[in-house]
Amino acid sequence: MKPKVLVTRRISEQPIAELKRYAQVTIHPEDRPMTAQEIMAELPGKLGLLSMSVDPVTADLLEAGKDLKIVANYAVGYNNIDLSAATRLKIAVANTPDVLTDTTADLTLALILGVARRLAEGDRFVRAGKWVGWKPELLLGRDVFGKTLGIVGLGRIGLAVAKRAIGFDMRILYTDVKQADPRIEERARAEYRSLPGLLGEADYVTLHLPLTPETTHLIGREQLRIMKKSAFLINASRGPVVDEKALVEILQEGGIAGAGLDVFEEEPRVSPELLRMENVLLQPHIGSATWETREKMAWVAVNNILAVIRGEVPPTLLNPEIYVG
Ligand code: DGY
Repeated sequence: MKPKVLVTRRISEQPIAELKRYAQVTIHPEDRPMTAQEIMAELPGKLGLLSMSVDPVTADLLEAGKDLKIVANYAVGYNNIDLSAATRLKIAVANTPDVLTDTTADLTLALILGVARRLAEGDRFVRAGKWVGWKPELLLGRDVFGKTLGIVGLGRIGLAVAKRAIGFDMRILYTDVKQADPRIEERARAEYRSLPGLLGEADYVTLHLPLTPETTHLIGREQLRIMKKSAFLINASRGPVVDEKALVEILQEGGIAGAGLDVFEEEPRVSPELLRMENVLLQPHIGSATWETREKMAWVAVNNILAVIRGEVPPTLLNPEIYVG
């Protein structure tokens, strides 16, 4: 009998067809996230769980999965999974790194350009029939080329953002838990700063961090106050890295020029104040959302499950400790 796998949301067909060759696959049929209770009810007897970043894979849920051997997250971020509980229960956890790096970096540049050049405002203006003709001061924005970009987190996506920013002749600063290898700095043409140092100098501050207890509210009132009044905050990582209430306040006070946000503290809820601000560009967590990349993410997740079915180590395993001892 084929092992059983639960897929919590409909994803690209081809990788799922491949998975079906080796597993009995249950796919949640509805166009909404499964609740924790629904996942828990489906888990008994399942070897694999192909989860989304919005699925709370808690310790309780993992314990309910008596036959569970792998959780393959369809996301690079895995803050939705209790990794230490999975490790204790000897359940493999895997994510989808690399394949979404460039797509997310593209979206980051789109947020920078979009908010600096007021693209969403311009679109709303034209659609509302308000455009009566060219004028010298219509929708003036801010330049991006030649400005200083501050990258918080020079990992894969941060580096890919730097690569793009080089093309815009930006001066690049970065901060991270530790200073990068000089070869990486050279490749990114980026200079290391402390977080406060970067916040005080950058015209655009972009966040590329995983969500952990240490990064939760890393950008709060104190940090936002360091930023220049003319600077923009960009977040395409995880919402809770920014204290959204503090961000609303600083924007209301004119303490920064604007923000480009793809992620929010309590998705899909967005602070109502942000919805009313013209200088904030809002997107519904679409950093990796292209046809090409979502298909690649599905293949990575499926290949991780297939590896476990074959008795192999999943290619993008996050908790190799489970195979030791
Ligand atoms: C990721 O891959 O982490 C994206 O944010 C999708 O949730």
